[in-house]
Amino acid sequence: QLADPTVDLPTLLASPLLPPARSTLPLPRQLYGAARPNSEGRDPHIAAHRLALLAAVEARGRRGLDRPADASVADASAAMQALARFQPSWNATPLDHRCAVLQRAADRLEARLDDFCALLVHEGGKTIGDAVAEVREAIDFCRYYAEQAAHRLAPQELPGPTGERNTLRLQGRGVFVCISPWNFPLAIFAGQVVAALVAGNTVAAKPAEQTPAVAAAFVTLLQEAGLPEQALTLLPGPGESVGAALVAHPACGGVCFTGSTAVARAINRTLADRPGAIVPLIAETGGLNAMVVDSSALPEQVVDAVVQSAFRSAGQRCSALRLLCVHEEVADKLLAMLAGAMAELRLGDPREAATSWAVDVGPVIDAEAHAGLSAHVARLEAGARRIARTALPARLANTHIAPVAYELDGIEALREEVFGPVLHVVRWTGAVDALVDRINAMGYGLTLGVHSRIDGRAQRIAERARVGNVYVNRNMIGAVVGVQPFGGEGQSGTGPKAGGPHYLYRFCAEQTLTVNT
Ligand code: NAD
Ligand code: ALA
Repeated sequence: QLADPTVDLPTLLASPLLPPARSTLPLPRQLYGAARPNSEGRDPHIAAHRLALLAAVEARGRRGLDRPADASVADASAAMQALARFQPSWNATPLDHRCAVLQRAADRLEARLDDFCALLVHEGGKTIGDAVAEVREAIDFCRYYAEQAAHRLAPQELPGPTGERNTLRLQGRGVFVCISPWNFPLAIFAGQVVAALVAGNTVAAKPAEQTPAVAAAFVTLLQEAGLPEQALTLLPGPGESVGAALVAHPACGGVCFTGSTAVARAINRTLADRPGAIVPLIAETGGLNAMVVDSSALPEQVVDAVVQSAFRSAGQRCSALRLLCVHEEVADKLLAMLAGAMAELRLGDPREAATSWAVDVGPVIDAEAHAGLSAHVARLEAGARRIARTALPARLANTHIAPVAYELDGIEALREEVFGPVLHVVRWTGAVDALVDRINAMGYGLTLGVHSRIDGRAQRIAERARVGNVYVNRNMIGAVVGVQPFGGEGQSGTGPKAGGPHYLYRFCAEQTLTVNT
């Protein structure tokens, strides 16, 4: 099960409170006591802190969400002009001052971890384990980009002939438009925004329609940490109007987008057709992520990894497993074990404090997602073999999609990303190279899982696969900032990788200064 085992009350009361979630890079979760990756649900610090987290969820439920009003297209245009006016002075702010704002923001997030978790639970439908992980990821983004900026964005003296001084300087590009999705409404929103800011850009931030309250809380926190109000404007509202207007605005000096492949293409078209400067686009998009399991793999390890990768966060992660490719020799045994594990998953509403702690799989984001996923499952039910479906309590029927696995005749039946707890399975036999080529041919390139005890084979698969993140003999979600830089290729994005050493450069304009002394 994904949620932590029950901790008895005396142990709980004797436990120390969750220590500050300070990330000490380069091992961001070193102090969290997470012996295994992605084990927040079993993390002793979270278990010890559960009363405070539950109290915060309950309090936020009583208080409700403070959703900011939508911006209009006129607001977007006025904001872009004001941000363009302020950008030169923000860009001229010393780099160490900009870095310090990010570090203070991280301190404040640590101090307010419970409340931000509660916001994520209530606005995003996150389980508590996922919410804690997300706040920690946002903290890591702030600290990592602050440290990277101090190290990488400082002016660099270059060699030259006697009598000549050469310097490479990096500065902001202007106004960066940051557009984010609902599935990581804090971590991705924060990661984009602080990266653009620390590089010297001012920022127009457009959160997803579903999750503006978390974004607004983070903007306030940045201001409390010393960010001038004129450096960042939050512009909630529909993507098709407000988002599109920001991208098309003449003052837009760069776009950082995370979301679906289709919207990334639309933004790319707008930028290509715009007169004036050629504007860079950083796009991190969807995936049709596969896991390859050969006959040497450890069955228990595979089943645990599949359940985590496909169903955690109700499958609403870009990194999530969509296509499980199991070798014919072990398929029957593995799929029977998988069905058993899926029967153990607990569905529930994490917003209900009384049961929040015990929820493995929460709701999908909204009615539109529910309808789309239900239609996809209905098509599979008619044309594929169902392997297993987790029981869905009747009271959750309109909000949740039961984790489900279907066996398909071939990979080719799957063409589009399915963003929910729906696992597709195929059996394979013959050369693994041919299987990897068929996975590559789907055109996405985000994550890949490999389960094999034959190291040479795992290495060969990783080398042949056209994907950004390969995970061997573990689950394939929950990339850690600075440890597993994250992002894909092909239809999954342009790079550079979020949480990686090359990310900040894309937010910068480079200038070489040559002085004849
Ligand atoms: P989405 O593409 O529908 O929306 C993303 C953002 O784009 C939202 O803020 C939306 O309002 C805005 N938008 C929509 N139309 C626009 C337009 N024409 N111009 C400008 N902005 C516009 O995606 P979503 O449903 O919010 O998020 C889920 C998707 O995000 C999935 O495809 C998932 O794989 C992807 N995702 C990718 C990553 C990654 O790092 N690769 C991470 C998380 C989510
Ligand atoms: N970065 C997120 C993950 O790895 C999307 O699951």
